[in-house]
Amino acid sequence: MNLALTKIGAQMSNLTGVRAIMKDIIATLQAGGGQEFINLSAGNPLILPEVEQLWRDCTAQLLASSEYGEVVCRYGSSQGYAPLIGAIVNDFNQRYGLNLSDRNILITPGSQSLYFYAANAFGGYTSQGDMKQIVLPLSPDYTGYGGVCLEPEALIAYKPTLDIDGPAHRFKYRPDFSQLSITENTGCVIFSRPCNPTGNVLTQDEVKRIAALAAPHDVPVLIDSAYAPPFPALNFTEMTPVFGGNILHCMSLSKAGLPGERIGIAIGDESMIQALECFQTNLCIHPSRYGQAIAASAINSGALAQIAQAVIRPFYQKKFSVLENTLDASMPQNLPWFLHRGEGAIFAWLWLQDLPITDWEFYQELKQVGVILVPGSSFFPGLREEWDHKHQCLRISLTGSDEEIAIAMERLAQVATQVYQRAVVNA
Ligand SMILES: Cc1ncc(COP(=O)(O)O)c(C=O)c1O
Repeated sequence: MNLALTKIGAQMSNLTGVRAIMKDIIATLQAGGGQEFINLSAGNPLILPEVEQLWRDCTAQLLASSEYGEVVCRYGSSQGYAPLIGAIVNDFNQRYGLNLSDRNILITPGSQSLYFYAANAFGGYTSQGDMKQIVLPLSPDYTGYGGVCLEPEALIAYKPTLDIDGPAHRFKYRPDFSQLSITENTGCVIFSRPCNPTGNVLTQDEVKRIAALAAPHDVPVLIDSAYAPPFPALNFTEMTPVFGGNILHCMSLSKAGLPGERIGIAIGDESMIQALECFQTNLCIHPSRYGQAIAASAINSGALAQIAQAVIRPFYQKKFSVLENTLDASMPQNLPWFLHRGEGAIFAWLWLQDLPITDWEFYQELKQVGVILVPGSSFFPGLREEWDHKHQCLRISLTGSDEEIAIAMERLAQVATQVYQRAVVNA
């Protein structure tokens, strides 16, 4: 069939960013040719037995309860399932001393949909024809922000400054406040904290400074907390979520063991929640209620926050240690390699300064030695200016076994050594 797509249809069909690479990865794995690969590309969390058991227990409880029919056999409110909204209100008021009511919460089918609603409710053309930008204050950031705008030119990202510890081979991105522009032409601001792909956690001061720049223009600031405490609590450094005013605190239960159930949660001022709720009504009426019901019980009992801290966080933190220890032991001291400080999330981010080939070519060379990572250039959505750094980074997922991670990093060290050496010989 020769399907005629609209502009938006064609745009949505584009394999942008990481989706193009994932296609190549799937083709590589399928072609295989007898070669075994260590695949550290996935953003899919591992199934941890304690976490799976929690959701199994909550499901058994739901099946046995009189609420079951109400949950799966009936439509509900667009804002979300009332017991889950109540559980979030109680938990967050108690935990963080907030004063939330049920009007401050929206439940969505995964948090990706939340960014889609926000990008198009707050960004794009106003009825007066003015363009409202969606600002990503620190690039690189989550590749999924690249596809959410129906007006792609609305998305604008800012280059960070680099805080480099040369002798330790570590670095950290910081927002460049000398460049960052948030004005009456800004529709909303979005960033992830902890960050996918880098594991960066913006400091409390940096977050407050960004929110303060946006506040005079009533611009919503979406803090993507997919990896933040209290669940999944994938922060390896102290961090406290920031609430209030123009901040929309956005959560996901995907990294807390429920990616298949698609649960996103937004917490913020009633005006923002209402605008997004209307978007949701038009799009899908409401998210599935089964996942919401089991989430309500895991949050009410305190089990979800407990398991996040006791199981999920240490599991991935240990993987990061294996990765950094192996790199420290196997990467030559004289190469300009810098690992981003591992402050959270389920990824490591490696910068190979002055890399003589592109990140894409490096990814191809790694495939030759049976290792699959993601080239970093997919993680700069909205950053239009050329910047060598974009082609010098790699994202390494912490979703392999300890042994796989160690072997992959040793092979990466060998490939990096050869690539830099080849460049010297050819110079
Ligand atoms: C930073 C970040 N935000 C949002 C999402 C989307 O999550 P979900 O739609 O499953 O809640 C992801 C998924 O990997 C992510 O890494």
